[in-house]
Amino acid sequence: MQEKIKEIQNEIERFSAKSAEELENFRIKYLSKKGLLSGLFEEFKNVLPEERKQVGMLLNDLKNAAQNKINEFKQEFEGSKETEKSDTDLTLPANFIEIGSRHPISLIRSKIIEIYSRIGFTVSEGPEIEDDWHNFTALNFPEEHPARDMQDTFFIQKNPDIALRTHTSSVQIRVMENEKPPIRKLFPGRVYRNEAISSRAHCFFHQVEGLYIDKDVSFADLKQVLLYFAKEMFGENTEIRLRPSYFPFTEPSAEMDISCFLCGGKGCAFCKHSGWVEILGCGMVDPSVLENCKIDSKIYSGYAFGMGIERITNLKYRVKDIRLFSENDIRFLKQFDSAI
Ligand code: PHE
Repeated sequence: MQEKIKEIQNEIERFSAKSAEELENFRIKYLSKKGLLSGLFEEFKNVLPEERKQVGMLLNDLKNAAQNKINEFKQEFEGSKETEKSDTDLTLPANFIEIGSRHPISLIRSKIIEIYSRIGFTVSEGPEIEDDWHNFTALNFPEEHPARDMQDTFFIQKNPDIALRTHTSSVQIRVMENEKPPIRKLFPGRVYRNEAISSRAHCFFHQVEGLYIDKDVSFADLKQVLLYFAKEMFGENTEIRLRPSYFPFTEPSAEMDISCFLCGGKGCAFCKHSGWVEILGCGMVDPSVLENCKIDSKIYSGYAFGMGIERITNLKYRVKDIRLFSENDIRFLKQFDSAI
């Protein structure tokens, strides 16, 4: 056996590879599972005890020699690949990778959620394709209410019971039907209205609605939360004004203006010289809406508010044309910094 090992040792020492392929064949011949060395190690089991030490050492040397050969040539071949690579012209400018930025609507949406989450509001979402009950009936819209008119609502053909939701108030109903008060929730989402597209209106836009239901919730609570929001969103000096309004699902209802953050309330072109800009609708949840959702209106009361995210974004970034938000023009979109 020692003879055989010496023979192979010589073979290995004489070996030189001209290509990576030759080297691989060498590896297979000597070191693979079915290679010569495996065979020798197999035979080693039959070696007489007094020869074991000697033969074992020779076998190990053989294995090392084969491995060293492979390492030696491997380096050589890899080295040559390296030289090929260095033909690349490293002075060429790199391919430019355009880095995306967050959409302004998404930035403002996150900011609104962040502000309200600090005072305990959590987020729920609902479907954009709604039934009449959640979008209208449960919210107290009378049969003949103009908002049900084909002009405002996209109905799904053949089924007048199914429509694209016209506001996120539908999620208010879904949450009240499924959860027990206290409820302190925000509902952000996309809504649809069948309106002519212009710089001020679009057939779809985004809203965030808020809902708080508990014992003894008052209009004063609503006002305080809205004041907090206005200051966090538009600055510490912001003031608010509530004007009486009408929504079928709130009573009393109001629209909220903030003092114009450009002129500080003195009056300018931006606020049409009124000193105020409108930002949201709100009110106390109508008791019959609570009852529609099986919440006892003698025990519980609550408030709701809803705002258009495009509206807040327009004010915050002074965007004049709402269509820009859905045109995906990178020159427009990349102007918005993620820090607001
Ligand atoms: N859903 C109303 C709208 O779309 C906004 C609103 C929400 C008003 C909650 C009052 C309370 O105009």
